[in-house]
Amino acid sequence: CSQCLLTGSWRNDLGSNMTISAVDSTGAFSGKYLTAVSATSRRILESPFVGFQHPTNETAQPTFGFTVKWTFTNNTAVFVGQCFMGADGKEFLKTMWLLRAAVESPGDDWKATRVGTNLFVRNP
Ligand code: BTN
Repeated sequence: CSQCLLTGSWRNDLGSNMTISAVDSTGAFSGKYLTAVSATSRRILESPFVGFQHPTNETAQPTFGFTVKWTFTNNTAVFVGQCFMGADGKEFLKTMWLLRAAVESPGDDWKATRVGTNLFVRNP
């Protein structure tokens, strides 16, 4: 009852979309992230990410992590999560993220990191 595949197109509770390319034999994957929101007023652009899942066995509910390099800001996000198979047979990703903003000086470090959760479901 627990097959969960990371590969494919996902949408989260903020309306952001991401596409995860094929997971390779080492568990490595990459993809493209189109966020629906930004901490800045910059025009949003699609941004790349790279990550790993564990284990690589597709029949598990794998944990994973990935890093997004935003192309339209100097900020960086990391996501960790797990791919689950729901009782209804629909896969979902439970994640937590940290968003690091570039700040001018170490004195601004205290306000540089946001934290949150996102729930992703597979796009039809
Ligand atoms: C930025 O504002 O510097 C880049 C965009 C950040 C978007 C964040 S990452 C965590 C959260 N989940 C999303 O889908 N979007 C926001």
